[in-house]
Amino acid sequence: MNKNYLIAGNWKMYKNAEQSREFIQDLERSFTSVAAMTVVVFPPFVALAGLRALSKKINIGAQNMFYEEQGAFTGEISPLMLQGLVDYVLIGHSERREIFKERDEDVNRKIKAALQFNLVPVVCIGETLQEREAGKTMVKIKNQLEKALQGVDKEKMGRIIVAYEPIWAIGTGLNASPEQAQEVHHFIKEIWQEMGAERNLQILYGGSVKPENSFELLAQDDISGVLVGGASLKVEQFSAIIHSCIQLLDK
Ligand code: PGA
Repeated sequence: MNKNYLIAGNWKMYKNAEQSREFIQDLERSFTSVAAMTVVVFPPFVALAGLRALSKKINIGAQNMFYEEQGAFTGEISPLMLQGLVDYVLIGHSERREIFKERDEDVNRKIKAALQFNLVPVVCIGETLQEREAGKTMVKIKNQLEKALQGVDKEKMGRIIVAYEPIWAIGTGLNASPEQAQEVHHFIKEIWQEMGAERNLQILYGGSVKPENSFELLAQDDISGVLVGGASLKVEQFSAIIHSCIQLLDK
């Protein structure tokens, strides 16, 4: 199979520094690296220091960052501070957009800052239940992507990863069916090409991913990874999702 997978775990506001270290060590022991699969976890900021050195197989990412390099921005973390600690950064997660009122414009600036500081931005997009029921999923997706990428250099677009996370599927136990996810992923790829990006885009699916549904989701043509919330907090569950990817690659 000619696909590179990314299995990502978003821990949200769970786990302190010690719990994060223990998790990384346990997870590290639970699987063998496979060339076509990358594993990333996104712990809280306070746990990031030193985590990268603990692990050979697991990459580390941040759940958010501000777009300025430094300044009077109380409570914010800059891309400069993340350099050396992480390789990836989540941008525009729906919880950031909904609870903390991040706008498309902020997402756009954060993507540009991440690229400038050589962090891989994992850009989250997705529709609400209301938008899906009104048949507006694709309009929302296109709009979010276009706004997120406004003014981003075409050559740099190849370093971006997109995560499609339908909001109605996050933390609800209701995942999009593999067919529903595939349909949107395919559409995202088309938009990406229309925008003139050079490289084949890696698109993750997120929203109630668990060991029971990960294999089938990952088997879809345009799904090249998963962004896991709840099920990434337990080593056994997250490891089972990693193993479903390994099993798929072995086929
Ligand atoms: P969930 O969260 O897997 O708990 O639905 C996914 C996410 O928010 O990234």
